[in-house]
Amino acid sequence: MVLEVLPWPNPYLRKRADEVEAFDDELRAFVADMEETMHDRDGLGLAATQVGRNMRLLILDPYAFEGDEGRGKPNVVVINPEVVWQSEETITGEEGCLSFPGVFIQVERPHRVRIRARDAQGEAFEIEGEGLGARAILHEIDHLNGVVMIDHVGHLSRQRALKKHQKNQKVKLAAEREEAGRKVVGRKRR
Ligand code: NI
Repeated sequence: MVLEVLPWPNPYLRKRADEVEAFDDELRAFVADMEETMHDRDGLGLAATQVGRNMRLLILDPYAFEGDEGRGKPNVVVINPEVVWQSEETITGEEGCLSFPGVFIQVERPHRVRIRARDAQGEAFEIEGEGLGARAILHEIDHLNGVVMIDHVGHLSRQRALKKHQKNQKVKLAAEREEAGRKVVGRKRR
């Protein structure tokens, strides 16, 4: 089932999520919904808080780690993540977010990061990301702490991103209203 991705400034996006304790079928069904949602929205990563769930859980497309080599491979399911290590060296690159659709900003992040987490079966694992991989991991972990990408940039860049986001949301809302209107008209004709 495709879930609704909450757009900024939904208050859920400022929530610090709680640890996952039950690694059961219900959790795995939720992960499957998250994967369907990320795929539907053509995203590289998705955090549970973005779909209104209070859980330290995120998924990442393997493309973030392996580029084209990762296409078709299973998504990386990251539960209760902890950053083990991150490089002092940073890199500035373009970043987007499904809660700010169509908005891209330049964000400075550590070049490399290593995290420890659990998978959907509850098994512990570690994964390292470099460049886009590190960026994706840290962006999604931020979501679990109520932090979003615009929190990482200066005032001017933040204002510009928010303005663009508001404009995009207005266009989306107008299109949805038009669509809803068409459905009502369609019903009357029957
Ligand atoms: Ni995001």
